[in-house]
Amino acid sequence: MTFTIDELAIPDEPTPDFVRAIAVGNEVEALGYGTPDLAYEPDEELAIMHNPHEPARLLVARVDGEIVALGKHETTVGDDSDTSWLAINVLPQFRRRGIGTALADALEGMARDEGKAKVVLYAPIAEGPGERLPSPTGFGSVVAGDPGVLFLQQRGYTFEQVERLSRLPLPVAGIDGLVAAAQERSGPDYRLHMWHGATPEQWRADIAELGTRMSTDAPSAGLEEPEDVWTVERVIESDERAARESPRVRHTAAVEHVPTGRLVGYTVLSVPPQLHRAVDQYATIVMREHRGHKLGMLLKVGNLQHLAQKRPGHPSVMTFNAEENRHMLDVNEAVGFVAIANESAWRKDLR
Ligand SMILES: CC(C)(COP(=O)(O)OP(=O)(O)OC[C@H]1O[C@@H](n2cnc3c(N)ncnc32)[C@H](O)[C@@H]1OP(=O)(O)O)[C@@H](O)C(=O)NCCC(=O)NCCS
Repeated sequence: MTFTIDELAIPDEPTPDFVRAIAVGNEVEALGYGTPDLAYEPDEELAIMHNPHEPARLLVARVDGEIVALGKHETTVGDDSDTSWLAINVLPQFRRRGIGTALADALEGMARDEGKAKVVLYAPIAEGPGERLPSPTGFGSVVAGDPGVLFLQQRGYTFEQVERLSRLPLPVAGIDGLVAAAQERSGPDYRLHMWHGATPEQWRADIAELGTRMSTDAPSAGLEEPEDVWTVERVIESDERAARESPRVRHTAAVEHVPTGRLVGYTVLSVPPQLHRAVDQYATIVMREHRGHKLGMLLKVGNLQHLAQKRPGHPSVMTFNAEENRHMLDVNEAVGFVAIANESAWRKDLR
């Protein structure tokens, strides 16, 4: 069996090849996560891949003309952009024939050509019996004999971190009471604000600041994820592109520190257009200076209440957290999130 590898230019609108490539990626990832609930549809992927601040490139492997594997190269632009993020998905019936190797060689080559110092790869690892590979952080482990683990180890990647995938069944019972209790605990210095869609003008600068902090403050173990700077212009571009292209709607809860009038934390839920699909948890951050006031809980329950009011009927919320991020896991577990899968984070230095 021979295969070919070629780059699939990111189209303006979904093409048959693009639709097939996304389906292949979704099928393989669903096996790793044990659920199809994280799948994005082609038009949703396109709205993300058209982000000028996070340029994406796709490679596909074909057998007899049919796409059987997908490789993805993503990076950020800007001075601190020394990292590329890779993904490699080969359909099970086409494995152990060198396709994964050919895709990895080409993707790492792209990163080298762009002068990147390292690549980072997040691989879902299906649960199963047998020996475990413990995370170097001391928190979590994955199946040591997983094909992805063996593949990455023999390519010289180092295992850095386990991320936990958790699921919250909706609706959350007694959400109004949870919000009232959280508000009580955080105190009168903190006020919740909610919106869906574009960021209100008065909060754009604060959201840019929080977005930048998100890239450096979330625990990333030995991955050394680079700072990703957000500006007001980038917030506007992102909101306009989402409104123009994405079928998904962002529901945001943010907390204002009343004495200074500044936002000091926010959380975002990305809501798909079909009611039967899961909602995706995006960033959650509270500024370091304001931690210890239970604002993580206030934000989370506030946004779940907001979702219940605006878009009731979705089955669940899905979220990833670093396994060592006990503060966030405590909040999520208290709300009702349950761990369902593991993702492993890997790094390879190119210089
Ligand atoms: C990991 C993955 C991309 C490998 O794709 P592939 O096309 O089978 O990879 P290759 O045929 O190039 O394998 C290269 C080497 O990796 C190792 N390897 C890959 N799968 C393995 C397995 N099931 N058992 C043992 N070793 C394995 C072997 O050393 C293999 O060389 P060999 O076949 O000469 O022994 C594929 O299994 C996959 O898509 N898995 C699910 C997604 C995933 O885990 N992605 C993240 C990792 S990139």
